[in-house]
Amino acid sequence: GKGEFDHYMLKEIHEQPVAVANALEGRLGSDQVLIEAFGPQARQLLGKTRQIHLVACGTSYHAGMVARYWIEALAGVPCQVEIASEYRYRDVVAPPGTLLLTLSQSGETADTLAALRHARKRQGENYAGTLSICNVPGSSLVRESDLSLMTHAGPEIGVASTKAFTTQLTSLMLVALALRQLRGGDQGLTARLVHRLRYLPTLLGDTLQLDAEIAELAQRFVDYRHTLFLGRGAQMPIALEGALKLKEISYIHAEAYPAGELKHGPLALIDGNMPVVALAPMDELIDKLKSNLQEVRARGGQLVVFADPESRLEQEEGMRVVRVPGCCRFLAPIVYSLPLQLLAYHVAVARETDVDQPRNLAKSVTVE
Ligand code: M6R
Repeated sequence: GKGEFDHYMLKEIHEQPVAVANALEGRLGSDQVLIEAFGPQARQLLGKTRQIHLVACGTSYHAGMVARYWIEALAGVPCQVEIASEYRYRDVVAPPGTLLLTLSQSGETADTLAALRHARKRQGENYAGTLSICNVPGSSLVRESDLSLMTHAGPEIGVASTKAFTTQLTSLMLVALALRQLRGGDQGLTARLVHRLRYLPTLLGDTLQLDAEIAELAQRFVDYRHTLFLGRGAQMPIALEGALKLKEISYIHAEAYPAGELKHGPLALIDGNMPVVALAPMDELIDKLKSNLQEVRARGGQLVVFADPESRLEQEEGMRVVRVPGCCRFLAPIVYSLPLQLLAYHVAVARETDVDQPRNLAKSVTVE
């Protein structure tokens, strides 16, 4: 049941520290990832991987978009990410050594399964193999993939995916590090990230302390009709995910853009009735992001910025700053997912929608 929580979604948001700890359980050595723990064929399959096609739908697709940044930066493996309903009908060219990596909470999403089958049939000889990252053991996707990494999030009841997403991200970080190890990248960084992964559940617990502050902040969104989310780099897919959460449960129209795209069109939307939610972790793009935020402020946009304590963003007229616990730039996408989930949740509650069962949606999309 929901226990002390009003909705399954809120319960599942708060389960994330434990869910992520479960996703890591047994998979970390003292300063590296235990590749054998992924399964007996994992070392061989990842060892012959030359590039990756990541295929998924919805929230799982956003996890794949984050993973592309990690896999390219940490392992130097070329990576492309695609929505399954597109991949399955395209004349995909898979160069020899392509790993098809499908992501799905349920393992029963029709388009994702069809993409897997299409790839095998069409260019079977060029695929190094198929790996799925999935939350449901024994699902069709798991049965039909060469190798599966289970996310161990536990059952997710709310239609809006939360803990399934952050455990997918955690699992994808393990895959990125495993690829780095196999390709002989500098192991100092690997060791540091392994240590930070161990601390991630605690960090997520600290981040959930923002719940009350975000609940209060959410009240100002209730009467808005639109919201724009901005992020750069690996936070750009988190902005997309924040927009998806808001639209699917609160029914407020939301869009997300890479902050650098503002000037190329969406800036025209900004006025005093357009709230803009921005993600501002401490990374090499922070100064560029700040100048994007100035562009929004100069046009009267109402900014809410989720920021690292070190990013030196000060609250001012038209800009509300919410401090997110400091974290390393690689794990920041996982951490920053939580405040956006909480924001969508509290806006939806304030608008009295059916949070766990949003209109027109199903938990598992088993038809095309
Ligand atoms: O079970 P899957 O991860 O394959 O589901 C894919 C999407 O239908 C799913 O992520 C959907 O976008 C979420 N419920 C949105 O919160």
